[in-house]
Amino acid sequence: MDATRTTSEKKLTTKQTATEWHLPNTARMYDYYLGGTHNTEADRKAAGEVDSYAPFVGYVARLQRACLKDIPAELARRGFDLIIDFASGLPTQDHLHENAPEGVAVVYADLDPVIVEYSREILGNTPNVHYLYTDMRNPLTLLNESVVQQLLNEGRKPALVIWGICLFLSDEDIDTITNVLYDWAPNGTCLAFNVPLVDMNRNNEAVIKFLKTYEDLNEPIYVRSLEKVREIIHPWKPDERGFVSFLDWHGLGPSSMTPDDLDAVGPTGGGYAAYLVK
Ligand SMILES: C[S@@+](CC[C@H](N)C(=O)[O-])C[C@H]1O[C@@H](n2cnc3c(N)ncnc32)[C@H](O)[C@@H]1O
Repeated sequence: MDATRTTSEKKLTTKQTATEWHLPNTARMYDYYLGGTHNTEADRKAAGEVDSYAPFVGYVARLQRACLKDIPAELARRGFDLIIDFASGLPTQDHLHENAPEGVAVVYADLDPVIVEYSREILGNTPNVHYLYTDMRNPLTLLNESVVQQLLNEGRKPALVIWGICLFLSDEDIDTITNVLYDWAPNGTCLAFNVPLVDMNRNNEAVIKFLKTYEDLNEPIYVRSLEKVREIIHPWKPDERGFVSFLDWHGLGPSSMTPDDLDAVGPTGGGYAAYLVK
């Protein structure tokens, strides 16, 4: 896992107003946690502050991105040649299309119009990659987009990705989203799915401060148990490997964590992931 971090300035050239770029944005803060350069001074200040008292946030972000890297090849191995990702953030730092085997199309999507515009600028004319606006709480909207419909009409076999986002979604939203997707998906469809910050230690001071910070940023974090997750994603079921902790995904052990991070997020490394199958 690459834990390096650079703070070099990147020229931002989208048409968004200067006012917006001067506010911290959680997707660009995430790019900073991942060691990326697609972030502004405001993002670095906000994320740097979180990092100073809650280094587990960057640790979990980098760990779940390291797990995400495997997904395109695994889905291709299972015969899928269209990856539809529902809350993508910036397409940087080893995101899906950077690891997609030739011939696999990737559809990214996000709710934040600033991130959609900036991501399109970053991607330019990269072949076989699309970036759409969506609110995943109504997942059919993305699936009914003409770009997606056209890819499906080409006979492509779709797989779905919900990664790094469940911590921002209520139980009711996850329940609805996964149910709608289950009804939409052909039998055998695979949904690469993860839940960050499961079972976080709410008595840990850094965790308490982190939850308050994201509440103030208008991005409240939902902490839940794996049991609750299993319940709300029903009838999706993980494949034979089951839910795997972030640390077990690549066979790392809790000894790769600092004692403070271990106390904050527990021995999973910050969450669980699985390939859910219909
Ligand atoms: C942590 S970031 C990126 C997560 C990314 N999938 C990953 O694994 O790295 C979360 C992104 O989800 C987007 N987001 C939040 N709520 C959303 C929603 N309801 N629909 C679509 N995107 C959403 C945010 O704008 C942000 O860019």
